[in-house]
Amino acid sequence: MERRDFLKGAAVLAVAPSLFDRAQAADDLPDVSSQLHTFPKDFLWGTATASYQVEGAVHADGRGPSIWDTFSHTPGKTYQGETGDVADDEYHLYKHDVALMSRLGVKGYRFSIAWPRIFPEGTGTPNPKGLDYYKRLLDQLQEAGIEPFCTLFHWDLPQVLQDKGGWASPATGRAFAYYAAYTVGQLSDRISHWMTINEFDSFIDAGYGSGEFAPGLRLPRRELMQTRHNAVLAHGLAVQAIRAAAKRPIKVGLAEDISGTMPAIDDEVHIRAAQIALREKNAPYMTVILEGKYTERYLRGLGADAPRFTPEDLKIISSPIDFLGINVYTTQEVIPADSEPGYLVVSRQASYPHMASDWLYINPQALYWTPKLVADTWGVRTLYITENGCSADDVIRPDGRVLDTDRIMYLRNYLTQLHRGISEGVPVRGYFLWSLLDNYEWTSGYSKRFGITYVDFQTETRTPKLSFDFYQHLIRTNAVV
Ligand code: BG6
Repeated sequence: MERRDFLKGAAVLAVAPSLFDRAQAADDLPDVSSQLHTFPKDFLWGTATASYQVEGAVHADGRGPSIWDTFSHTPGKTYQGETGDVADDEYHLYKHDVALMSRLGVKGYRFSIAWPRIFPEGTGTPNPKGLDYYKRLLDQLQEAGIEPFCTLFHWDLPQVLQDKGGWASPATGRAFAYYAAYTVGQLSDRISHWMTINEFDSFIDAGYGSGEFAPGLRLPRRELMQTRHNAVLAHGLAVQAIRAAAKRPIKVGLAEDISGTMPAIDDEVHIRAAQIALREKNAPYMTVILEGKYTERYLRGLGADAPRFTPEDLKIISSPIDFLGINVYTTQEVIPADSEPGYLVVSRQASYPHMASDWLYINPQALYWTPKLVADTWGVRTLYITENGCSADDVIRPDGRVLDTDRIMYLRNYLTQLHRGISEGVPVRGYFLWSLLDNYEWTSGYSKRFGITYVDFQTETRTPKLSFDFYQHLIRTNAVV
């Protein structure tokens, strides 16, 4: 027995080329390794931010209060009571930040418009001064040749609307469509790509379920389920309103932190299990938007707490979109299971590595599997990675530099996997790194740094980190190695 094994091993050794043979053979081969990691010529490299996280200037030019102003000023809600009152002061420093983007070499900037700057009262009379800020920003981007990708709602709901029930009331969805139509009517000459809403579960489940995010409510399950439904309906209404209001052909989508899944092992049964899990885990949001129906399992599981809706609602929710934005930070491994529902989402062991945020588990394959499964499951033809990046424990060294090699490690590995997918035909057209700057990270305040530029929040000084140089080089060469 032992001898047979030994012989088998020897046979394998005999046919496997030695290192020396391989090196010689490589001379005759084209240089495939660099080609393997080159992105398509028209691939759009960008960065992303959001209004409340970077703008500051919360009282400037007639901006009304948002739920995040109220929430962050409520004692005990955020890290050390920190607020977005000043944040990165991009409202005043936007020229500087666009110059930073130019230096980086990005071709796209994903930013969001603060609804309470445009409609301080949530709806009704618009505030031209609020709109003017975005016009100034857009002029600057245009001059720099950077394409704007605009999100209409990245969680800063006007407080007045929250006072009337917020997303728990269907009236907020109608107000959202009104705001979307007005804003698109004003800015569609300068912006081609519009996203309705950023990350449903973050502002609905965390805002109205666990109470961790603004407005900090813990609604009973039935009301929470209806609130989820109101939000996807609002998205659909806004898609229709945007199309009707646009002054020229534009592209409409959304940015969702899809609950990613991946096969623990790359075989057919695991891949199938990951695909089923993807549909179910995203049933309240992505699945209903893309399929026009809630999964049976979702509705059955909720029983009497299931949302009430009409067939007309489902049509509106699934109004066709032109592209899908997905925010991808991590994913979860899935294995097949014999019993219902046919899969098991594996909970992570304590030793699973994560970045500075304890939720940010490192799994580079997320950027391969999530876009791939989304495209395969729903036939999506145009995808953007609207957010990817990580927090790190950055420190300014005595020489003034921030050498964030852990962030570089994260980005390099994720982008290698993104390249793998694209080279297999996964239709990802662009990538927006979160984030250009360290910024106000919601309940984490300023304690978690996601930027490739270090921000001193006392002086607003910006210091590009080593990861900035890494990304700049990657964009310049259009390749990751
Ligand atoms: C995404 C959000 O979920 O993750 C961003 O769209 C956010 O706004 C980023 O900044 C990091 O999340 P967090 O919760 O750690 O600040």
